[in-house]
Amino acid sequence: MIRYVNSAAGIAPTQLGGFFEGWRAPPSADGHLSMLQGSDHVVLAIDHDRTSVVGHITAITDGIASAFIPMLEVLAEYRGRGIGHELVLRMLAQLSDYPSIDLTCDQELQPFYERFGMHASVGMVIRAINVPPR
Ligand SMILES: CC(C)(COP(=O)(O)OP(=O)(O)OC[C@H]1O[C@@H](n2cnc3c(N)ncnc32)[C@H](O)[C@@H]1OP(=O)(O)O)[C@@H](O)C(=O)NCCC(=O)NCCS
Repeated sequence: MIRYVNSAAGIAPTQLGGFFEGWRAPPSADGHLSMLQGSDHVVLAIDHDRTSVVGHITAITDGIASAFIPMLEVLAEYRGRGIGHELVLRMLAQLSDYPSIDLTCDQELQPFYERFGMHASVGMVIRAINVPPR
């Protein structure tokens, strides 16, 4: 059974693992936990049986007008069960007072986000080739 929580409080690094698929230098479990704790909003999907985190979504905000969603991931073995959809729904509910909500994604994921009323835009980014772990 999957349960959802809106905080990283009480989460231990040992409950985190397997995230950051495709990253050349993924953060350590401690770094991952710091990222969750440093975010303004978090929703975690937890496998009740294994008590491990199997999905996460985070947002950072200015508290008034703008919110940005930097991280959404569901562990590969848990995909296709609606967990990603639920994480986005719950995060957008938390951010409902923000008139501007941004994220970046690959083109193939645009249909996934369009289901939530999001639409494609144009942006500019800087991406370090090899982000060092904290
Ligand atoms: C994107 C991601 C979070 C989706 O999680 P998930 O739990 O598998 O998603 P859901 O089961 O809720 O899928 C909801 C719908 O989106 C579709 N979908 C999921 N991943 C998709 C993808 N990569 N491309 C296109 N559609 C996708 C599913 O087919 C499903 O459609 P359906 O309802 O018609 O079957 C997951 O694939 C993932 O973690 N990917 C790697 C990290 C990533 O790309 N994160 C997004 C960063 S912007």
